[in-house]
Amino acid sequence: MLKVGLAGLGYWGPNLARVLNQSSRCLFTACCDVDPSKLARIAAQYPNVSPFSSFDDFLQADLDAVAIATPISTHYDLAVRALASGKHVFVEKPLCDSSKNSNQLVDLAVRSGRTLMTGHTFVYSPPVVRIKQLIDSGEVGSLHYLSFSRVNLGLYRKDVDVVWDLAVHDVSILLYWLGEFPSRACSFGRSCVQKSKRDVAYLWFEFPSGTVASCEVSWLSPHKMRRTCIVGSNRMITYDDTEPSEKVKIYDRGVSLRTPESFGEFQLTYRMGDVLSPYLANTEPLLLEIDHFIESIEKNQAPRTDGYFGANVVKAIEMAIGSAWEPGDVPASQQELVLHQEAT
Ligand SMILES: NC(=O)c1ccc[n+]([C@@H]2O[C@H](COP(=O)([O-])OP(=O)(O)OC[C@H]3O[C@@H](n4cnc5c(N)ncnc54)[C@H](O)[C@@H]3O)[C@@H](O)[C@H]2O)c1
Repeated sequence: MLKVGLAGLGYWGPNLARVLNQSSRCLFTACCDVDPSKLARIAAQYPNVSPFSSFDDFLQADLDAVAIATPISTHYDLAVRALASGKHVFVEKPLCDSSKNSNQLVDLAVRSGRTLMTGHTFVYSPPVVRIKQLIDSGEVGSLHYLSFSRVNLGLYRKDVDVVWDLAVHDVSILLYWLGEFPSRACSFGRSCVQKSKRDVAYLWFEFPSGTVASCEVSWLSPHKMRRTCIVGSNRMITYDDTEPSEKVKIYDRGVSLRTPESFGEFQLTYRMGDVLSPYLANTEPLLLEIDHFIESIEKNQAPRTDGYFGANVVKAIEMAIGSAWEPGDVPASQQELVLHQEAT
């Protein structure tokens, strides 16, 4: 069995520790954190796992693969060192904080012949996989549009804004479902509480197929919402991840344009058919994700969310925020107009 180590034992790391310990496909043998209190907590919980406070010492341990759940700004450096030491690497989402770093990481993984996987957990969740099957089978028809809402109160992050924290999930789901890269993207956001970190943002994407998508993300909302709406020519689907059961609902609803039989006849017909909620296994996505990582290494196959996939998510996010509206971007004449409107 492959021996796996985990670096980063803060908020998310303990969840990975639990599934690494639970998985029947690997042995969880080492853990690492620069914070002694985080390290001590996991060491006490898993006495057979060797604790390391130095990442270099951790890499010297007898390990086949490492999982990295440290802050995003450290992903590139730690993953490079892990790949260079011959380990297969799982990096929590997002792969890196820039396309440049993501691409270099992908190149390094290819050159060293090691598996690089990005932890886009939702891509392994049964509702998301089921919707992908419905889209691929043609049941939904051609996709008109998708809208995502991922909002709640907090958790405010110190290192990144809400786009790099929450929108990464929606963009990964979007790229997985559509299997194409956006042709155009833009976004708006606002830093309401912290000075220069957006806590609310809206991202829009257009795809070569014509499908359009919007993502609303916020750390500043009274309710927790995880809602996605998918509108196709044959079916409409809602996916609510906060629902304890019946997370996915498939609506046989739509609007068709028919040829009028007489002059002036209304040409639209509304279809109001059945609503179906498919059975979904209740397996934890994180466990499925870790098992997929191990299986990909064993079979020497590219994981579903390999380095390329992770790099594309980063690129799509950059594409959207690169065109974000900033006051400084407004041409001088328009800026005067904005100032004038504010003054009156
Ligand atoms: N897949 C998901 O659904 C999901 C959910 C939450 C967070 N995440 C991701 O997990 C990662 C970690 O997020 P978090 O919220 O746990 O952050 P965190 O800040 O709570 O924890 C990070 C930990 O890494 C440790 N660390 C920092 N530098 C280190 C180094 N060089 N070597 C070893 N340890 C080091 C810190 O001491 C800290 O304990 C991020 O990439 C985040 O996006 C994923």
